[in-house]
Amino acid sequence: MAKHDLDPNYLDPNYEPVVNHSENTPFHEVLSARMQRRTVMKGSVGAALAGVMGLGLVGCGSDSDDDDDTGGNVLPPKVDTKLGFQAIPVSTANEVKVPEGYTAEAFLPWGTPITGSYPEYRPDGSNTGAEQEQQVGMHHDGMHFYPIDVKSGGNSSEEGLLVMNHEYIDQSAIHTNGATSNADGLRPADEVRKEIAAHGVSVVHIRKDSAGKWDVVFGSRFNRRITGGTAMDIRGPLRGYGKLVTPYSLDATETRGTLNNCSMGPTPWGTYLTAEENWHGYFAFDTDKAARPREYVRHGVGGSSRYDWEKADSGLDQYRRFDVTPTPGGSAETDYRNEACTFGYMVEIDPFSPESKPQKRTSLGRFGHEGVIFAPVTEGQPVVCYSGDDSRFEYIYKFVSARPYYAASADGSLLDEGTLYVARFNDDGTGEWLSLSLKDETFAGKVAAAKGKEVGRSGIVFDGFDSQADVLLNTRLAADIAGATPMDRPEWGAVDPNNGDVYFTLTNNSKRTDAETDAANPIANNINGHIIRWTEADGNHAAMAFEWDIFVFAGEQGTETVVDGEAVVTLGDENIFNSPDGLWFDYNGRLWIQTDGYSNETFGNQMMLAADPATRDIRRFFVGPVGCEVTGVVTTPDTSNMFVNIQHPRANWPNASEDRPRDATVIVTRNDGGVIGA
Ligand code: FEO
Ligand code: CA
Ligand code: CA
Repeated sequence: MAKHDLDPNYLDPNYEPVVNHSENTPFHEVLSARMQRRTVMKGSVGAALAGVMGLGLVGCGSDSDDDDDTGGNVLPPKVDTKLGFQAIPVSTANEVKVPEGYTAEAFLPWGTPITGSYPEYRPDGSNTGAEQEQQVGMHHDGMHFYPIDVKSGGNSSEEGLLVMNHEYIDQSAIHTNGATSNADGLRPADEVRKEIAAHGVSVVHIRKDSAGKWDVVFGSRFNRRITGGTAMDIRGPLRGYGKLVTPYSLDATETRGTLNNCSMGPTPWGTYLTAEENWHGYFAFDTDKAARPREYVRHGVGGSSRYDWEKADSGLDQYRRFDVTPTPGGSAETDYRNEACTFGYMVEIDPFSPESKPQKRTSLGRFGHEGVIFAPVTEGQPVVCYSGDDSRFEYIYKFVSARPYYAASADGSLLDEGTLYVARFNDDGTGEWLSLSLKDETFAGKVAAAKGKEVGRSGIVFDGFDSQADVLLNTRLAADIAGATPMDRPEWGAVDPNNGDVYFTLTNNSKRTDAETDAANPIANNINGHIIRWTEADGNHAAMAFEWDIFVFAGEQGTETVVDGEAVVTLGDENIFNSPDGLWFDYNGRLWIQTDGYSNETFGNQMMLAADPATRDIRRFFVGPVGCEVTGVVTTPDTSNMFVNIQHPRANWPNASEDRPRDATVIVTRNDGGVIGA
């Protein structure tokens, strides 16, 4: 099959390239360190760890109902986070399953018209590129609900802007006969236009009607499509940097499009940050014609492109730019050698300003951003946010703004100045944030020491950073040099609204060998993944130290998460899962865990579970249709309406009468109108 027919949906654990070959593998202190490990897994296939004892440190690791177990955070009143529904069994049905007393209904499937002339979805795949630009995109992912009155201090659960990402596409479903090529090997330009338009972000103004049914507000000025072709500004330290110069923007201040938008993060000032994750695959680079710069090597840019957009037969610059091979005798001003340096960022969109230009916030680093999660803000204190780099052996980052937050004046410019840190998880349950600023003496010293040496096993001989912009452009390389802990594919993060603990999913890593395990990533061939959490020192999110623990190990029945010799979770029929990915704390503090892993008779289809963080009670709440991943979740402020995204369903879902699958949002409600999960 052509590469277009490959389904890059990460069900194939070999899909994501391993581009971190750095030697930050923390296996030097093997035995003594492992004796100090607090949380271990027992009982799952190939993962039993014998003879390991815990230390029993206080902090986020303790499992108890003790209200003082906060690591020093100042707590709001404790709210009840108990789960009140009956767990549902695994399912292989081609439909959504929810607990008794709940209802699920598909909404906003791919192709739903939302702007312009509202072109009707055609189920035979014959909508044009121009029509797709006015319709909901494909492969729904991260999503947030903004109450329509939030800017005036309101909290509507009846009307708002639902903003969602469209991560990638299914070429066999998007066109009538799949992707086609002309006799000369070029692709029809309108197919390419349609594929680019099915990427990006949808802003949809939605409202409940008098019968309580949600619908699109027809003609709303807020309805908007942002695509892989929308003009965007470069902001932060990389604005104007030479390695971002392209023929489109000779002063390196602009680029076009956002791609492979996975998770997201709502900002404290009411905007939306969309993450560019596996953007590297969209670019062609002919390695026979030129040597790749380190900015591409460390990300896996190289070879042919995922969708061959550079081969569009119109030959227009907007498509040619996806070939980033330098041309003979050319320069950054005449060819698109730098185009892939304008991707890999968190991109800010203001859904309430439909004319506003999206802003690529380069201070937050350039890598495979899964998403971003903000810590709660405090007047006069810096803004802090966390972002994971979802690739095997990559890192978790934290950004601390230089300027303090004041609600009255806060905006995205707060993200343009500040310090990016990367996490080191020590085997004794402590952790450190390592600065990636050249102004930091320790980091500057490591950078100086690394010069002229091969960094890790990537083959990159480090030849220095010419500026902080260069550091951020090569964030992964900088983190290698800093000595960060390589993780088992960090996906979504979430911050517990009740105590400030930060949780991250580590989805899986089948490449980790036994010799490469450490306390934070203790499973060799980690096919099922785990969830890690930490408490920042003194409850201060801007702190440079933290204490961490593992919240739960995923796996089959009998998989135990053991703290200090005691199993605090033993997975059973009601809560087995693999490959945690989406993660979100609702407004009451229940944790929602979504999966993107392998499906078989044991696990059934991909799912969403709810967890009580206080007790680690975990129950399956939702199972998706055949072949999908479940990703993206948010509720209305009153927690009575939940929106859940279904990405890449394989069969004819949600409409059995149609012959192609459509990604869609599922609205879950409780039949008695109550709080979801309670
Ligand atoms: Fe797009 Fe890492 O999931
Ligand atoms: Ca994901
Ligand atoms: Ca995933």
